[in-house]
Amino acid sequence: MLARRLAFVAAAFLTPAMAATPDPQATAADTVAMSIDASKPGAKIDRNIFGQFAEHLGTGIYEGVWVGPDSPIPNTRGIRNDVVAALKALKVPNVRWPGGCFADEYHWRKGIGKSRLATLNPNWGGVIEPNSFGTHEFMDLIGQIGSEAYLSVNIGSGTPQEAAEWLEYLTTDQPTALATERAANGHPAPYKIPYLGLGNESWDCGGNMTPEYYTRQMTIYSRFVRNFNPAQRDAGKMLRIAVGPGGGESRWTDWTEVVMKAWQGHQWSWDMEGLSLHNYTVIKWPPAYASVGFGEKEYAEILQKTLEMDGLIAKHSAIMDRYDPEKKIALVVDEWGAWYAKLPGSPEGFLAQQNSQRDAVLAALNLNIFARHADRVRMANIAQMVNVLQAMILTDKEKMVLTPTYHVFHMYVPFQDATFVPVTFDAGTYAQGDVKLPRVDAIAAKDAAGKIWMAVANVDPNRPATITASVAGLAPRSAAGQTLTGPRVDSVNTFEAPTSVTPKPIAARVQGGTVTLTVEPKSVTVIAVQP
Ligand code: AHR
Repeated sequence: MLARRLAFVAAAFLTPAMAATPDPQATAADTVAMSIDASKPGAKIDRNIFGQFAEHLGTGIYEGVWVGPDSPIPNTRGIRNDVVAALKALKVPNVRWPGGCFADEYHWRKGIGKSRLATLNPNWGGVIEPNSFGTHEFMDLIGQIGSEAYLSVNIGSGTPQEAAEWLEYLTTDQPTALATERAANGHPAPYKIPYLGLGNESWDCGGNMTPEYYTRQMTIYSRFVRNFNPAQRDAGKMLRIAVGPGGGESRWTDWTEVVMKAWQGHQWSWDMEGLSLHNYTVIKWPPAYASVGFGEKEYAEILQKTLEMDGLIAKHSAIMDRYDPEKKIALVVDEWGAWYAKLPGSPEGFLAQQNSQRDAVLAALNLNIFARHADRVRMANIAQMVNVLQAMILTDKEKMVLTPTYHVFHMYVPFQDATFVPVTFDAGTYAQGDVKLPRVDAIAAKDAAGKIWMAVANVDPNRPATITASVAGLAPRSAAGQTLTGPRVDSVNTFEAPTSVTPKPIAARVQGGTVTLTVEPKSVTVIAVQP
């Protein structure tokens, strides 16, 4: 009984912030009261919102994932074992490949078979593309990490026939010439392709198309690029994702209108199940903000920018609602994340950047936004998985380091396919110069076992926050989890110091249906509330 009313704070689990003397700046306003209502379940938070994006760009594939079977770096059939183990732990639901802009210049036949001919990668530094990582290697990666394939087909410079043959090669179980070739290349059984992107940024690097022209092209691909895998005929049907908007201005709302209107009046002969949205957190173009060695001003500005994601989703969702009130079409945020200036000394076009505690907070804010829009946003892919933009993992030859963003994705694993439950709170304000941000952010969800998971981001880099969360619809008995922060807003993990930003255990106090915990400045915390 006593245990029900008063859960413990195990001394061993105390974080420095909890154990230390209270911050002299802390005031009563540092307490944020939240109400979680577990009796009002919302939409399922689709695990696919934790998807990754891996493009042939910089060292994202070559070195980051693929080192080749003869490499001294431990590998399985050419794929790095350390990277696979790290990704496995993230329970990556899907990986988008081969691009990006790269996809609209990719010709899959060059990436199969024994002799691979070198081509160029004109989008990203004009470097040699050896084609040694192709279709079979990608599917092997998917298998090794226990994920699912999200292929982007080439609409920009390819043909419907080329894309249709790729899918036949991958998915048919009939003894066609393409299936025989697949078997000769080592995979007699058909592959499962659950997600198919119909082009990429067709309004820009994917071919500078108008929405009308794109829609005509897309419907042709939708018709002819078939998945023949018998296991995907009914329940596991492949979802086709059309190119969607890349911003909030009228150019982009027009795009959403045109594609959605076409879908509303669509014939039996074509269909789509998703519309993509690309939105990077970037200030100035070309990106000028540094990924490391910045101060509080840049911290606040970038986080302010990232919160635009919410309005953007709301804007395009409202248009989609007019044509699709039943929300059959998913909004797929298949490129998102921070885009900073390239690291000094790194090659042009490689999009190499560091990843700091700021990015951890940024990732949490975006994941929380996706969760709040879970009824429409059912898939998302952070850009990108390894060594590019807001990466999970950085590698340098045989070395590997996990970024703060990786740790956030790891902490959020319990939210995969959990049911959203509402949290209400007055966030208060964190101010930095002219920038004013909600001081804290939080989401909650119920998992299949009935446990409540709560994620709290303390955006304020100077003050801890004491969260008192009352829980309705469930009698909480104990609560504990992990918290992530670093010494500074720009703290990073490096190959020399890989654990500067690393999760620590945190425990909460539970009393009379209220969970109380103190979160450190600029932190991300995930706790499980046990009934
Ligand atoms: O992620 C880098 C690039 O950003 C992608 O190739 C493209 O789709 C977007 O513009």
